[in-house]
Amino acid sequence: MTANSQAFDHWIRTSFCDLNTELEHLYWQQDDKANVMNIGDDLKQQLETEGRSLILPLLDEGNTDNGFDNAFDLLGNVGLYMAACRRHEITEPSREQSSPLIEASALAMHIGASIGVTPRFATAHLTTHNKAFNGNYKRFTHLEDEKVFIDYNTKAILAYKRAADALIKIQPLGISHPITADLLTSAKQGLKDVIDSNKLLFEKLDTDRFFNCVRPYYKPYRVGKEVYRGANAGDFAGINVIDLQLGLCFANEPSYSQMLVDKFLYMMPEDQLILRDCMRRTSIMDDFLDASACHKQAWYQENLSLFLDVCKLHGTTAIQHHNQLVERYITKPSTEIAQQHMEKITASGPPLHVLLDSLEKLRDRRAAHQRDDIRTRYADIETLKNSIVEST
Ligand code: HEM
Repeated sequence: MTANSQAFDHWIRTSFCDLNTELEHLYWQQDDKANVMNIGDDLKQQLETEGRSLILPLLDEGNTDNGFDNAFDLLGNVGLYMAACRRHEITEPSREQSSPLIEASALAMHIGASIGVTPRFATAHLTTHNKAFNGNYKRFTHLEDEKVFIDYNTKAILAYKRAADALIKIQPLGISHPITADLLTSAKQGLKDVIDSNKLLFEKLDTDRFFNCVRPYYKPYRVGKEVYRGANAGDFAGINVIDLQLGLCFANEPSYSQMLVDKFLYMMPEDQLILRDCMRRTSIMDDFLDASACHKQAWYQENLSLFLDVCKLHGTTAIQHHNQLVERYITKPSTEIAQQHMEKITASGPPLHVLLDSLEKLRDRRAAHQRDDIRTRYADIETLKNSIVEST
């Protein structure tokens, strides 16, 4: 890390976090907690100016050749700064044609284009690639609820990744291989860990704090001329590797492939490679359906039971995400908020009901629910379940 990037990193970890926290305290004291207009203007000015003065020397330095990790980390820091400016409405994409943060935009675009990711902060910057010093990792604020949110996002993402890593190793071995049972068992454990982590998040995270003081940092913002959608915990390949390897979702279905196309550049380059590879593979579910003639074999019975357990658990994580996390922390508070703030609610931009509809469809694909308007694996899962019952 160069001296200039170190200085910026130090600022992000200290004054930047202090200023955001102070502003959050001011907003929180209002009757309309969602209002940020005409409040803490001196603090906002300080945030913008201090950030800009640290970014200028980095832009001159042209910091892209110190290796991927440093460049990615620096992009995260610029992104946190730009996201905070958006949160405090120092910038506002519907008000502007191009980001007024000219130097920050230039630096972010330089780095993003050179390493093959979007020029904004992504989930990985705050979760899986967020170095802690003396126990403290980067955050927007000192608020306990933000820490809870990031801790349990990180836990769940890593657990999903463990499940995905196990599933992706099955294809070269095949569904009848004795060690495939071990891999399916590991995948089960990973998904159980997601469920446990989500339960704790649901217990510990305060709705109002999340909705008013954490979520606003995840809004879309402009970099240069383009608006980039907000970061969400789903921006890693593992979740889709699980969808596709299990066969619960289809890479050639328009709405699902649209989502994959949209999220590619929000993922780390290594995740992009994994997902591309996975999109070209057959699924474990299809392999079991093709092997129905072997249903009396012991391997078929054992591995299929484990496979069905994995599918069930994956569905449970999706139901939990939609019916608990999204419902409590987004849908419900959104219905209560003043109408003038409505259009600013989701991180990704579309109206809330459109977003909820697409998340509901994802839930139903992952849980293989019976639906006649979208393709789910309900019938195939029933067929596979019956092939176990018949032989016992
Ligand atoms: C996407 C809400 C925690 C995984 C989304 C979206 C919302 C949302 C509203 C839609 C995209 C957007 O608005 O930009 C929440 C809330 C959470 C939470 C309120 C907790 C308070 C988590 C956790 C995970 C997760 C812990 C686990 C890794 C995903 C995934 C997506 C997503 C994978 C992308 C869509 C999909 O493939 O399902 N989330 N989320 N979320 N979230 Fe969460």
